[in-house]
Amino acid sequence: MNYPFWDVDIGYGLLMSIIAVVHVFVSHFAIGGGLYLVIVERTARAQGDQLKLDYLKRLSKFFVMTSVVFGALTGVAIWFIIGLLNPAATEVLIHNFVWAWAIEWTFFAVEILAAILYFYSWDRMSPRSHIILGWIYFASAWLSLAVINGIITYMLTPGDWLTTKDFWDGFLNPTYFSSTVLRTGICIMLAGLYASLVAAREKDSLFRIKLIRYNSYWGLIGLLIAMLSYYWFRASIPTEQMSTMLERMVMPWVAQDQLRLFAGVLIGGFIIYGFILTKAYRTTIAILMMTMGLLWFGAFEWFSESSRKPFVIQDYMYANAISVASLEQTQSEGLLSAITFRTGNDGADLFRRACRSCHTIDGYRPVNRAYAGTDIEFIAGMIRGAKAMRANMPPWAGTEQESMMLATHIYEQIDQRHIKDIYDLDGAELGEKVYEIRCGKCHEIGGYNDKTESLVDLTDEDYNDLLDEAGDLAEEMPAFTGDQIERDALIAFFKTLEEGVQK
Ligand code: HEC
Ligand code: HEC
Repeated sequence: MNYPFWDVDIGYGLLMSIIAVVHVFVSHFAIGGGLYLVIVERTARAQGDQLKLDYLKRLSKFFVMTSVVFGALTGVAIWFIIGLLNPAATEVLIHNFVWAWAIEWTFFAVEILAAILYFYSWDRMSPRSHIILGWIYFASAWLSLAVINGIITYMLTPGDWLTTKDFWDGFLNPTYFSSTVLRTGICIMLAGLYASLVAAREKDSLFRIKLIRYNSYWGLIGLLIAMLSYYWFRASIPTEQMSTMLERMVMPWVAQDQLRLFAGVLIGGFIIYGFILTKAYRTTIAILMMTMGLLWFGAFEWFSESSRKPFVIQDYMYANAISVASLEQTQSEGLLSAITFRTGNDGADLFRRACRSCHTIDGYRPVNRAYAGTDIEFIAGMIRGAKAMRANMPPWAGTEQESMMLATHIYEQIDQRHIKDIYDLDGAELGEKVYEIRCGKCHEIGGYNDKTESLVDLTDEDYNDLLDEAGDLAEEMPAFTGDQIERDALIAFFKTLEEGVQK
């Protein structure tokens, strides 16, 4: 966030994901629904099946309503939010892909127009022209996905673009094709789910069962295409990017587990309710299945979004809108001078510029708890060492002096009592807490960058030396600034350690 005037106490990322999830859900359904409508209309017309045509008319109403109204509204909302969240990244996207956007908007305009005409011309056009209109609708909707997907995948894997800055290198990037096939599979699955939601209300039970069976094929086939290309998609992410993610982040792995879980539930649901207990596929089941589809899709989006962290555009710009290329300059000349709008409170401005895109002080993903009971020098050390923390954060982009200003600003808002009193602990238990706060963000016991090996079986003197020299052990490692009580507790805790395991 570069502008101080949208300083509300919510997680911007969270807001963005809520709107984006609604948007992608509706827009993918709109594409799959287009394909479904024209294919089913063709057979219905050929067979002169009036029942089916009536059902399609109802479906197209539901469908035009959701895709045009929700799709367009949330699409505009996304532009509004990314402009507030990360104007710098938005600018990069517009600059590099200006023609792609222009083409995408053209397709989108055609899509909306064709959808509306399709809905209003069921009885006013020859069947042939009506179907052609449907194909125009589907083609423009899919093409707008194919275009925007180039830009979305570019953010995750810009590939050769990083060196060439060539439009096509960015657009047809390493995850472009797999992701396009994957999203096409999602469109097909969602078409089946939505169609069943409408079909579940059909009164004629034979007809209903026939429809649900048919729609369940769409759901299953779409899901299979999506799951298979998901593995292809994952394999297209550069190995180094994947391994950093594996080592440091929890979120993509939780997302991936959920993805598999929901896929399993969906497959089971399609088979059981689509083919065996088809009679039971009424509105309740249809809504449950839709919800599962939404959760599955959400997990996928969560996976691909969180695997990009700490970047907004991989290897090019961090999520806090600091570009990789400008890092050295701000680190030596200062970050404050690179902030366009300053409020006079430098510490607060630094927090907004460097941290606010992902944290608040005491609300969404707060930093105050992690620093409770510590001191300014330690907080400043942690800020400078951010890159070494397991959390996979952007490196500190300011000077040492600025890290002190930011630390002071944060310090003023934390619980300043002694750690011992905040957590009401003593002895080795207090030591464990001290470790968690002062060491554990960078050295997880039995986990990320574990240092237990160097910490077991030392003498008191060695432990004291280690803590005295802590600030010199590594550039990113802060000095030990705890008092004697904390030091004694920490050493007591060290003595309980065994290599790789915690007693
Ligand atoms: C790109 C997003 C991003 C930016 C920018 C960022 N962080 Fe983080 N930070 C994270 C994530 C993600 C975590 C891990 C949260 C978790 O594990 O629950 C984290 C964890 C932390 C933690 C540990 C929290 C805990 O309870 O363990 C602290 C402290 C922290 N960040 C401080 C900062 C400060 C100070 C800044 C600005 C100088 C900053 N972060 C900038 C994403 C970011
Ligand atoms: C902000 C991150 C950070 C924090 C906090 C941190 N360290 Fe480190 N530590 C590092 C880095 C970076 C290195 C050196 C590179 C490496 O080995 O990963 C390191 C190295 C070490 C080493 C190995 C030195 C050697 O020569 O083998 C030990 C032991 C160690 N740290 C212990 C601690 C203890 C104890 C604490 C808490 C008092 C602590 N660290 C806090 C980042 C940190």
